[in-house]
Formats: sequence, structure tokens, C-alpha cells
Amino acid sequence: MSNIIIEAHGLKRYYQRGSETVKALDGVDISIREGEIVSILGPSGSGKTTLINLLSCLDAPTEGTLIVAGKAVAGLSEDQLVEVRRGVLGFVFQQFSLLPTLNVAENVELPLLFLGLKTDPKKTKEILASVGLTDRAKHLPRELSGGQMQRVAIARALIVGPKILVADEPTGNLDKATGQSIIDLFKRLAKEEGLTILLTTHNTVFGAEADRVITLEDGRIVSEVDPRHLVFDTVLG
Ligand SMILES: Nc1ncnc2c1ncn2[C@@H]1O[C@H](COP(=O)(O)OP(=O)(O)OP(=O)(O)O)[C@@H](O)[C@H]1O
Ligand SMILES: [Mg+2]
Repeated sequence: MSNIIIEAHGLKRYYQRGSETVKALDGVDISIREGEIVSILGPSGSGKTTLINLLSCLDAPTEGTLIVAGKAVAGLSEDQLVEVRRGVLGFVFQQFSLLPTLNVAENVELPLLFLGLKTDPKKTKEILASVGLTDRAKHLPRELSGGQMQRVAIARALIVGPKILVADEPTGNLDKATGQSIIDLFKRLAKEEGLTILLTTHNTVFGAEADRVITLEDGRIVSEVDPRHLVFDTVLG
């Protein structure tokens, strides 16, 4: 059994809006192993983005304990969270967020520049090959399809060599077949590179391809299943 890379207990994230308290996340316990793909499902407003932002140290919990890659992160300042994220977490967003004037290879190398690290054409080439974009390195984002743009975004997240890849609705803007190709890519990265992948989705079919499916409602986990067991149960009737 592989190690636990993320562990949270009693995780809460409340937002204060005037006299009203929005309980975006209201007491979540979760532990995630290295190399595991976990998908987070739930209706709009159920707390998926809030949860994924906490687990990936983009935001700090109001209450609860959280350990990410061996570091206790609750109560850390923004600067300290940046340090925890550095080199450990890679992010993929629904809108791709590619810079329109940079070509594919330059977009992929961007996080290295932000971190003050050297780019390495060989490494960039390798990462582009791993997402199937070798022949698009010099293209501009507007010359790509949606699925290709999403793969550039994934390559950009991978360039820092993260242990954990976090994707908030990575298939939200893609058609079914393209979305499936992104899920297949995630599965390969988890299997071959031991990457831990956290994703949110509204698509139950994609969600069920994860090792574990967590469903949120009103900021709480209402179910947590291993989809392989679901199939097993169904077969047994
Ligand atoms: N900055 C904020 N201030 C106040 N309330 C917020 C803030 N961010 C989120 N919320 C509230 O927290 C709840 C959970 O939001 P969250 O974005 O996590 O939902 P979600 O499950 O990701 O929804 P969607 O599927 O629409 O992306 C919502 O009720 C939302 O209005
Ligand atoms: Mg969301």
C-alpha cells in the first residue's frame, strides 16, 4: 500500500458575508494515497472547489487539521502556503488559462519562470510528448482545439514535477470524447508516474473512472465509494 499524501480531519471553510455565515465546507475527513485518482462530485455550490482549493493549499481552512505531503498546513500564512505548493502541486483549470501570445512550449515553461527556475528544452519536449503534443510546440493557443489546449494546461502543470495534480472541472469545457481522452491521460499519469490526481467534475461517468468517488452535498461528504466495488456489487445483484 502506498503512503498517504493528503490527510484532513474536520475540515471547515466558512465565509462571513455581513451577518451571514456561508458554510462552504462543514467538517470533512479525507485521506488520499499517493498515486490515487480521487474525483469529487456534487451539485453546484456543494463545496467541490472549496474542498479542492483547501486540499491543494490554495486556501486555508477555517477549522480542522490538514497534512499535505508531510506538512501540517492549517494556520499557515499565504507565503508559507506558497512554499508548500512549490514543486508539490500542479494545477489545471477549466478555462485552461493559456497566454494567447505565447506558443505551446512557452506556455508550458511559464511556471518555471515564475519559480525562477531554468527552462530545459529537452524536458519541455518530454512533457509535450507525454501529453501527445509533440507536433504542436510552436503553435499559438488559438491554433489548437479545446482538448489540445487542456493538454497544454496539463503539461504546464506537470513541468514543475508535482506529486499531486489538481484539476477543477478539467473536462467541463470539452465534448465527451475529448473529455474521455483527458481522463485516459490522467489514468496513465497516475499509473506510470505515480501522480496523485484530485479532480472535480459534474460528469458522473468521468467521475466513476477514478479510484475513489467522493460526493459532496452542502459542504459535507455524503458518500465515498470505490467505483470498482460498485460494479462488483452490481454484478452480484
Ligand atoms: N469567496 C466566497 N465568499 C462567500 N461564499 C463563497 C465564496 N466562495 C464560495 N462560496 C460559497 O460556498 C459554497 C460552495 O462553493 P464552491 O465554489 O465550493 O461550490 P462548487 O461545488 O465548486 O460549485 P460548482 O459546481 O458550481 O463549481 C457556495 O454556496 C458558494 O456560494
Ligand atoms: Mg466549483
